[in-house]
Amino acid sequence: MLSNLKAQPVDKILGLAAAYRADPRDTKVDLGVGVYKNAQGLTPVMRAIKVAEQRIVDEEQTKAYTGLAGDPAFSEAMAGLILGTDYPRERFAAVATPGGTGAIRQALELIQMASPDATVWLSNPTWPNHPSIMKYLGVPMGEYRYFDNATRAVDFAGMMADLEGVKAGDLVLLHGCCHNPTGANLNLTQWGEVADFLNARGAIPFIDIAYQGFGDGLEQDAAGVRLIASKVPEMLIAASCSKNFGIYRERTGVLMALSPSSAEQSLTQTNLQFLNRQNFSFPPDHGARLVSIILNDDALKTDWMQELEDVRLGMLDLRQQLADALRERSGSDRFGFIAEHRGMFSRLGASPEQVEAMREHNAIYMVGDSRLNIAGLNAQTVPILADAIIAAGV
Ligand code: LMR
Repeated sequence: MLSNLKAQPVDKILGLAAAYRADPRDTKVDLGVGVYKNAQGLTPVMRAIKVAEQRIVDEEQTKAYTGLAGDPAFSEAMAGLILGTDYPRERFAAVATPGGTGAIRQALELIQMASPDATVWLSNPTWPNHPSIMKYLGVPMGEYRYFDNATRAVDFAGMMADLEGVKAGDLVLLHGCCHNPTGANLNLTQWGEVADFLNARGAIPFIDIAYQGFGDGLEQDAAGVRLIASKVPEMLIAASCSKNFGIYRERTGVLMALSPSSAEQSLTQTNLQFLNRQNFSFPPDHGARLVSIILNDDALKTDWMQELEDVRLGMLDLRQQLADALRERSGSDRFGFIAEHRGMFSRLGASPEQVEAMREHNAIYMVGDSRLNIAGLNAQTVPILADAIIAAGV
């Protein structure tokens, strides 16, 4: 049986991490996988997480199963974080999932159960795992323009023109903030236009939000999602706690489904729980418990928000340093977009050959589409990267 298996393609992002580890050069710079690193190149456990973990060690009485939806306190805390605390409870169904990827996967399976012919529209480009999971599940896929390679900003006219192909009942996947891989984001007016368009078309927004707090701030990063949630009857939200709580390996995410009535909410809730049961039964609890402890404790929440804000401001500072270094070297403003982008990533706009040249000559590792992880830089490596970008002829 096993000999019948076909070789699978190596994941572009995770494959790059393996290539980086295997590179013996001590000058190597890792701008690949979307993991936050501080100036020392470490991914620290956040202070509030350490306190919450100690609290679990001291106070937890049992490791017996939670419910199929996970701990409701977690989902409610996450709904508050993303949708705001005044969003009506009777309008959302929610389950904890193994990470944001688990939430995406469960959302796609829910779509298959409810509406098997619906097309799910993805931005071009998007996180490569979106089309990969959809292809694996056989979900019909559409694509809309998103990024203008000339300006390195959102191609909003192209996006809206392509969305004309969306049919009633289709889903449109939007990155809630900090677009991965480009770093280019919709402004609030554009969010409003997209919401009105989807409403008029009878299509359903499907939000992937994995970097809340990494862009313009926790509240600001949720503004587009909240606006769209206030306008549409139905919506799916897949959220990750990997990045903003720094608990990558704990696999902590949530899938929320907003519906117009409490009857649909309870029907959706039972379906989400059914799906969890089919795929893995009970979602992981440790990370979810850490998140709900933090979000329900004023002092811990304040400390977490402060640490997250320091991370955000550090990334903005690195963006500015890189844009300045490139202005100096290129004698032009053509790299100014790096300071305008938000979140962990920017798409540089380099060709695959230029990306490869930077890897070969300068030991700089970025994803082949020229996505770079800003958090992989520090004050020492910014000038090294700027020199490499110019030398590669970007
Ligand atoms: C990324 O885009 O690098 C992260 O979301 C990590 C991953 O799983 O791909």
